[in-house]
Amino acid sequence: MQWSKRAQEIDSFKVMDLLARTNQLTNQGKDIIAMGAGEPDFATPPLVAAAGIAAIDSGQTKYTPATGIPQLKQAISDYYLSRYKVVVAPERVIVTNGASAGLLMVFSLLADAGKNILMTDPGYPCNKQFLRLVEAKAKLISVDQQVNFQLTPALVEQFWDNDSAGILVASPANPTGTMLSKEQLAQLANSVRDKGGALVVDELYHGLTYEEDAHSVLEVDQDAFVLNSFSKYFGMTGWRLGWAIVPENAIEPIERLAQNLFISPPTVAQYAALAAFEPKTIAELESRRWQFKERRDVLANGLAKLGFVIEAQPQGAFYLYVNASKFTDNSYEFCWSLLEEDGILVTPGIDFGQNDTNHMMRFSYTTSLENIHRALERLAKRLG
Ligand SMILES: Cc1ncc(COP(=O)(O)O)c(C=O)c1O
Repeated sequence: MQWSKRAQEIDSFKVMDLLARTNQLTNQGKDIIAMGAGEPDFATPPLVAAAGIAAIDSGQTKYTPATGIPQLKQAISDYYLSRYKVVVAPERVIVTNGASAGLLMVFSLLADAGKNILMTDPGYPCNKQFLRLVEAKAKLISVDQQVNFQLTPALVEQFWDNDSAGILVASPANPTGTMLSKEQLAQLANSVRDKGGALVVDELYHGLTYEEDAHSVLEVDQDAFVLNSFSKYFGMTGWRLGWAIVPENAIEPIERLAQNLFISPPTVAQYAALAAFEPKTIAELESRRWQFKERRDVLANGLAKLGFVIEAQPQGAFYLYVNASKFTDNSYEFCWSLLEEDGILVTPGIDFGQNDTNHMMRFSYTTSLENIHRALERLAKRLG
């Protein structure tokens, strides 16, 4: 039997091999400080977990409408009004099986076979795979500190071609943590509108910003497609729940895609998520946010002192994307040796693209402050 070309072409994450080795080493009793994960180390907030249990107890275990239960769509709509001061009709809220499903559906809607979507390199690696699945392409654009690792109208102008269907940006971005201002979002919206394309904005790390709050693209452009999730700020990665906000005219085709691809988002998770917007939950999440900030500051200072270069100010998410060229020309090998010799798991740059990624590494600060101090001591011993 032969697997499809499509399946053969989908890459694995290199960090998964490192993770498998981490598990082996941990089972052997080695003390590994894990800074590879793309998920908060905090548990799901207690009220959310309790609401999930109550949902099971009361038999909320059947399919729901394909785009989510009305109460949750309304709660998300209310959240946009209170947080961003934008009116989003609940019908435009599409509850999804994580943002992953949202991305797959939005790309399925926007990109025919052979079409492309412009996005940054480095960037979140699954995006190009979702496009590959629908026989379309990610047009990867190398970005650096000059542009804060984000797309600009000039880059859109330069790289847009006859097959381009839209652009995808993320703010804050994975792996760099850089953000787009309201003005920058508006400028990108204008340039994509001029081209007749779609603007897709990944807002997954909203809430996890440490200098100023992130702006939603919906504050400046109601035609944009927004992806968000309960995974990151809300600490619900394993519940597999996210949402998309789509323009009015996209509701009907997205609903058909949702019906056919997923039937419905997970029911228990949807009822649990109703408690995510409770003031008590938000208070807990805000306290976590300030813990992340402290971790970021300690880690960023420590890494800079050692000679890692943080090329653009990481304003959000829980990652530091660092240039390690003082120590290596092969950050993948370097990550292996950090794991084997120093007991630190870090994600190699290669997982985020091809753009100078042999010099780059991503540290997640999804571990305790104490562990961050210990990791810095280990690095100092080796590199200092
Ligand atoms: C930028 C970005 N987008 C989307 C996702 C997918 O998240 P989920 O499917 O858990 O909502 C991730 C996960 O790491 C991410 O970092």
